[in-house]
Amino acid sequence: MSDNLFLYESLDSTMDEASHLLDKDFNRFKNSMILAKQQLRGRGRQGRPWVTSEGNLMMSMIVEDIQPPRLSEYALLWGLTLYEALSSFVGDLAKVQCKWPNDILINEKKVGGILIERYQSGEASALIVGIGVNIIHFPEEVQFPATSLEEIGCGNITPQDLAMKISDCHTVLRKKWETRGFDGIRDKWLEVAWRLKEEINISQEKKSVIGIFEGIDLKGALEIKDFEGVIHKLYTGDVFESFIC
Ligand code: BTN
Repeated sequence: MSDNLFLYESLDSTMDEASHLLDKDFNRFKNSMILAKQQLRGRGRQGRPWVTSEGNLMMSMIVEDIQPPRLSEYALLWGLTLYEALSSFVGDLAKVQCKWPNDILINEKKVGGILIERYQSGEASALIVGIGVNIIHFPEEVQFPATSLEEIGCGNITPQDLAMKISDCHTVLRKKWETRGFDGIRDKWLEVAWRLKEEINISQEKKSVIGIFEGIDLKGALEIKDFEGVIHKLYTGDVFESFIC
């Protein structure tokens, strides 16, 4: 549960607003949720723009910083959080899956994604977790096919209701992670993973690998076996973006 909830008509990006709030008063805002009805310059992972419109979810949550090596675990925990929140609305209407590192698919099309950035100012640091979900609208011209909740007959959800559900699911999963460790989170993530034991192609800034998606290791790294039998481990933490103020 966040201590502060901010709801804006329009912002450049909820990520930037989160960072501004932390600049203003870190201690006061270090546990906040920021929602916008519209974003003018939303961004996705790897510097891609995130184009979305009113009616869709645009939110950022400011949470306590997590350092490597647990950062990859925590990123997957967020994927599972969004999976659980969306599944609670979708039910049996469609197949919901987690796609590494942090996308959620419905019927093999992207419905939402997560961007995690680190805020740092002197000694103070926090994570800003940005979540975008296509509730009503979805982009047509994208590399990976997209969908919306409405397209599968589940569009009568408000962004605020979805945000509250996400926050509740996160509280429960985070508690489980803290008390029982990563194993349960990892097992559940793998149960609902897209293309497990099948061929995938992962392109990161520094590395591209094609091979069989073998699983997630005990530290949260993706294991992919290339066609020469070499196992590559990819950490979500490698692709985190940072805000250093
Ligand atoms: C991705 O799949 O690449 C991540 C998309 C994250 C988009 C959300 S929308 C709310 C928050 N503000 C942003 O500018 N980006 C995130």
